[in-house]
Amino acid sequence: MGYSKRVLIVGNGGREHALAWKVAQSPELERLFVAPGNAGTILWNVAISANDIGGLVEFALNERIDLTVVGPEDPLSLGIVDAFQEAGLRIFGPTQAAAMLEGSKSFAKTIMEGAKIPTAEWQVFEDSDQAKNYIKSLGAPCVLKADGLAAGKGVIVAQDLETALQAVDEIMEGGFGSAGKKLVIEEFLEGQEVSLLCFCDGVSALPMVPVQDHKRALEGDLGLNTGGMGTYSPPPIWSSELEADVLRDLVEPTLRVMQERGTPFSGVLFLGLMLTQKGPKLLEYNVRFGDPETQVVMKRLKSDLLPVLWACTEGRLAEVELDWKEEVAVCVVMAAQGYPLTYSKGVPIRLPEVRDEAVIFHAGTQISGGQLLSSGGRVLGITADGKTLQEAREKAYSIVEQIEFPKAHYRRDIGVKGL
Ligand code: AMP
Ligand code: GLY
Repeated sequence: MGYSKRVLIVGNGGREHALAWKVAQSPELERLFVAPGNAGTILWNVAISANDIGGLVEFALNERIDLTVVGPEDPLSLGIVDAFQEAGLRIFGPTQAAAMLEGSKSFAKTIMEGAKIPTAEWQVFEDSDQAKNYIKSLGAPCVLKADGLAAGKGVIVAQDLETALQAVDEIMEGGFGSAGKKLVIEEFLEGQEVSLLCFCDGVSALPMVPVQDHKRALEGDLGLNTGGMGTYSPPPIWSSELEADVLRDLVEPTLRVMQERGTPFSGVLFLGLMLTQKGPKLLEYNVRFGDPETQVVMKRLKSDLLPVLWACTEGRLAEVELDWKEEVAVCVVMAAQGYPLTYSKGVPIRLPEVRDEAVIFHAGTQISGGQLLSSGGRVLGITADGKTLQEAREKAYSIVEQIEFPKAHYRRDIGVKGL
């Protein structure tokens, strides 16, 4: 299939705006839809929620969609890919069985073990006394993870034994809902974190540029964990040797084991890496594009995205090469007051005009009565590039300062780690 593709992107965050922005530039595109989208994707929005799989299948059949691209993890874990495939529709993403790499932390750890992938020492528990005994044997700091999906909030890094023991009760007594019935406890790893996203077609993988996320809410990596407060790419700590090691020792064994199980992985395999003194170790898998990783990755991608996604759905990824801009890209997230805890919504926002080299990606926004309003926790992702990290940071922050968004909070130190 050549030109005139009708594409549907599923989701409503900054990641989906970045994907839509990139796909909209494709010469192969005939028409784009985003379900449900946000104010940044208003030209393309359809009012169907990302988890309404039946509604999305029906829409894709009626609109003769050629390719559907899924942003968030929830519809993937609910089996959106299986449902589309059963209806004879082409879709980019992992099946429900393969999405378990993110949907269950204990499953992910079992795959890592089977593939001999370097990761933190771990055990899984359903009994709190046994969990506490293991914590005492590990000592502090240690890390506790609710087994299931918990919207990025199911992880507690306990600095001391008392906090760790208390957290066992919190998680097991339902603090994370059904995600917390099983508890993974693991060794604390020290180092810098890097996100590596790879396109996969079931057999082979093609890495994107490396990204460093800033997960904590406050400057200096303090405060609560969030979905991500900002990103930059590339981190200077990364190298092509490191990338070759990660592909050989972490990515390829994962794809091999998934294939052997009869659940080959297709879509984006996102590795959350810790670069330790003993080499790169895998913290977690995600089975989708990262948010806000995708904002900087799309900003740096020179190649057309559409043929790459298409090749993944046909097992032809080995034929694809990606071209990247040399420029460094930075994304600064502006969040609503209170995020990641309870936050205000409906705050009026005014945006400045921006020039070509920067993009304001929308996340939690909507338009009501002609007015742009906040409608989520992470609201905007101001993404700019430059010849140096310093220049990219200056451009991004100069736009942030021109945005009228009362009581917004953002980190001023995005990318400082890389300077
Ligand atoms: P995850 O959802 O597994 O990525 O965990 C969220 C965050 O918790 C990670 O981005 C790390 O900052 C931290 N984390 C998770 N596992 C570990 C670990 N074993 N050692 C140190 N930090 C961790
Ligand atoms: N930024 C981390 C994630 O997308 O999970």
